[in-house]
Amino acid sequence: MPPLIEILKQSEHFLKSKGIATAKLDAELLLSHLLRCNRLFLYLHPRDDMRECLLSQFQHLLSRRGNREPLQYIIGEVDFYGLSIAVDGNVLIPRHETEELVDMIISRFGNRPIGSILDLGTGSGAIGLALAKHFTEANVLAIDANQNALSTAQKNAMRNGITNIRFKVGDWLEGVDGTFDMIISNPPYLTDEEFENAQDEIKNFEPKFALVSKNNGLADIFKIIGTAGKSLAKDGTLALETGSSQHESIASFAKNYFDKLESMGDLNGEDRFVFLQNPRNLVSQVT
Ligand SMILES: C[S@@+](CC[C@H](N)C(=O)[O-])C[C@H]1O[C@@H](n2cnc3c(N)ncnc32)[C@H](O)[C@@H]1O
Repeated sequence: MPPLIEILKQSEHFLKSKGIATAKLDAELLLSHLLRCNRLFLYLHPRDDMRECLLSQFQHLLSRRGNREPLQYIIGEVDFYGLSIAVDGNVLIPRHETEELVDMIISRFGNRPIGSILDLGTGSGAIGLALAKHFTEANVLAIDANQNALSTAQKNAMRNGITNIRFKVGDWLEGVDGTFDMIISNPPYLTDEEFENAQDEIKNFEPKFALVSKNNGLADIFKIIGTAGKSLAKDGTLALETGSSQHESIASFAKNYFDKLESMGDLNGEDRFVFLQNPRNLVSQVT
């Protein structure tokens, strides 16, 4: 049997040959996932042999990654804002920018009483669960059009012991009763072309329904902006993650529905988040 250090070297070489930029790290993460150890262990025990049955399991994991399946789907989980979030092919892998959005909300509203939060397009449940964990007094409603995604989100609530959240199948705000102090969404916002040009990990494995929207990627954002006013409490906030080139179009559309819009950048300085307040309470015709 080859020792761990040799297996690591060969795996790195294999993943590099498949064009994976993070080949070394991915090999370490896959091996430590299989051996249920941390990465340091691999280097503290470089001469340990691996049992035959584990070796063939590792080769299977490695070939999945070689086919460009995202590491997070293979390992089956991702850390999101300190939560362990299970991910599978029904849900988008939560992104770091989305953690930034959660962080902005907590920095800005963290000390105020927030009674109700609506997470639209919850996917794995990442946003809703992170906010439910922080705003322990709040009731969180998490909606998604995809029942399979909601099953994963529900499991994630149990996995993290979070109980102040409930899940509902729905089409954005249709049939949503009551008002919320905070409505938050990371809706689909890619164009078809952006999706087709995305890396294989995204294009071949993540759900297109979770990523792509009509009207240059703006249809779902416009639908939410056009209909959220009726569901926002007085002084409530609608917070959205968006594409980086969409803010001009969003500002021009949103001024018909909200009196206050703030456009915010991510850590790379790209326009990625919009906060809307003071809805005009128009009856929306957005379809
Ligand atoms: C970009 S993903 C975001 C997932 C998760 N909130 C996150 O940030 O990682 C968009 C989500 O919106 C959901 N979705 C798409 N169209 C929808 C609709 N009409 N109503 C409700 N949810 C929808 C998708 O199923 C997907 O889970």
